[in-house]
Amino acid sequence: MGDATIGANIVQEHVENGEARTRRAFLAAAGAAGVCYAAALAYPVYRYLASPSEMALSAAAVTEVTLKDAQKLPAGSVLMFKFGPSPAMLIHHQDGRWIALTAVCTHLGCTVQYESQADRIHCACHGGVYNAYTGANVSGPPPRPLKLFKVAVNPTGVEVSRA
Ligand code: FES
Repeated sequence: MGDATIGANIVQEHVENGEARTRRAFLAAAGAAGVCYAAALAYPVYRYLASPSEMALSAAAVTEVTLKDAQKLPAGSVLMFKFGPSPAMLIHHQDGRWIALTAVCTHLGCTVQYESQADRIHCACHGGVYNAYTGANVSGPPPRPLKLFKVAVNPTGVEVSRA
């Protein structure tokens, strides 16, 4: 083997090493991009699946809500509000009683409505009916009553807390 052949082999080896490094760098970059892409896809799925448990935790963390100026609510009307992440209602009955309940139907979770003419709570999804004073499930598919809150009316607002 002459000097020219050895020199050619050395040059060829350098070229192949350069190509190998370039190929390796490309594969590493592609792998990193793949990991980032998978993480970008997985994070929203994780957030979606984790939401119910996070909502339950944040709901449990709330123990009291102050409804400023709610003491001015006229008799026979309702104020919808959020107790943590869940809808709730404050009813000022015609007889002067104040009642606060969860507004989430115990059947499939629709938001219920207070009907002042009938003095009842109605779920439009499947016709569930609740007692507007006790939250008891009166008719329709709801399996359990609505939960009652404690209510304290004061000159600046109404405080609603877990019973
Ligand atoms: S969700 Fe309310 S009656 Fe079905």
